[in-house]
Amino acid sequence: MKKIISLTINDQSHEIAVEPNITLADMLRYELALTGTKKGCDTGDCGACTVIMDGDVVNSCLVLAIQANGSVIETIEGLSTDEGLSPLQEAFVEKGAIQCGFCSPGIIMSAKNLLDKNPNPTEDQIREGVSGNLCRCTGYQKIFEAIESQRS
Ligand code: FES
Ligand code: FES
Repeated sequence: MKKIISLTINDQSHEIAVEPNITLADMLRYELALTGTKKGCDTGDCGACTVIMDGDVVNSCLVLAIQANGSVIETIEGLSTDEGLSPLQEAFVEKGAIQCGFCSPGIIMSAKNLLDKNPNPTEDQIREGVSGNLCRCTGYQKIFEAIESQRS
């Protein structure tokens, strides 16, 4: 039987009836059409589904939607504005840190969370900050350079 949950996603309040076994990733993608959050493995290994939940990154494929009841969620869709991409997103484009782009939303959300908490991370802290995100294309160096360019 569906259960009604309330949560805030990208500064918008939502009340939504969900099946008890649907994941947060599937709810975002299939119930709310927020398809920027990707699913690579569905088993917590790749980080493609990374979103920020109550100030911490989570693999949304491992979180049930009902566990997110009352939470504040940030997804990649929340980063851009009417003026365009966020500076962090622009940095990924400018540094060539994107190839197929499948991993990019998850990596950018991990990077955002890192920079929100620590505006001037060391190279090691950047590597650790995105260590839960796999990329098959770019070789990581340009990803690190894009994040480094956003240090304060
Ligand atoms: S889809 Fe969630 S970690 Fe891979
Ligand atoms: S850019 Fe293709 S998986 Fe990372």
